[in-house]
Amino acid sequence: MDTREVGLYWRRNAHAWTALSRQGWDVYRDTLNTPAFLAMLPNIDGQSGLDIGCGEGHNTRLLAGRGARMTGVDIVPAFLEAARDAERDNPLGIRYAAGSGELLPFASRQFDFATAFMSLMDMPAPETALREACRVLRPGGFLQFSISHPCYSTPHRRQLKNESGQPYAVEIGRYFDRIDGELERWTFSAAPQETRAAYPVFEIPRFNRTLSEWLNAILDAGFTIERTAEPHADEEMARRVPHIADTRVVAYFLHVRCRKPSWLPR
Ligand SMILES: C[S@@+](CC[C@H](N)C(=O)[O-])C[C@H]1O[C@@H](n2cnc3c(N)ncnc32)[C@H](O)[C@@H]1O
Repeated sequence: MDTREVGLYWRRNAHAWTALSRQGWDVYRDTLNTPAFLAMLPNIDGQSGLDIGCGEGHNTRLLAGRGARMTGVDIVPAFLEAARDAERDNPLGIRYAAGSGELLPFASRQFDFATAFMSLMDMPAPETALREACRVLRPGGFLQFSISHPCYSTPHRRQLKNESGQPYAVEIGRYFDRIDGELERWTFSAAPQETRAAYPVFEIPRFNRTLSEWLNAILDAGFTIERTAEPHADEEMARRVPHIADTRVVAYFLHVRCRKPSWLPR
């Protein structure tokens, strides 16, 4: 599946994704994934940043709130329209541009940092996207990104529960399959049934890479790896937000911060 077709699927997802996430139903993102991402982020006050695969701009706005001069880029115009509406209602100086992470519409070496929240694994060629991110960074700049964890978000994946219905393990398989655009259908499971029923389920094309393929792609793009994280709920958080208690079983997300060496000219 090529990037254009991936964009068509995301175009169809955009309305439901924007509505449901703005109603607060992306509970993994809001209570765990984004807070952990921001906790690992260096000081970005006064820096120019690019948010790759920004969607409707939720995380882009959080970065702007930390003092960064943000640009968001996404392949889906409907997401960008929603992001621009939010910018009009509450201006944070964010500009939004249409484009693919695999062919960024920006000159080289113009951003101090880049982020990609849960978007690189949705691209057919994340290797190209990593090279593009490296290209648009100034030497010494960093990219921080989150992805579905390559070891535990495998094409075959089944949650195992004990007699009292508590998840205790995950059965995984097809780890090495190079799947190319296999559709995954789901919605935000925290939303009540009647809310979920009001929207179509998401259809998300999947592309699989193993952990070593991700690490090698980061290094081949020219980056050095600086920091990693596998966010999960602690006991207290799991009690407070039972919906994310299953993140204590295996890692759902992988966070990586990597840096373009100051000697890298391109
Ligand atoms: C899981 S959503 C994450 C959205 C947002 N970053 C967030 O955390 O709320 C993935 C996003 O990646 C975008 N996307 C998919 N392929 C892309 C590509 N090739 N270039 C840019 N954005 C892309 C989708 O349109 C969607 O907005």
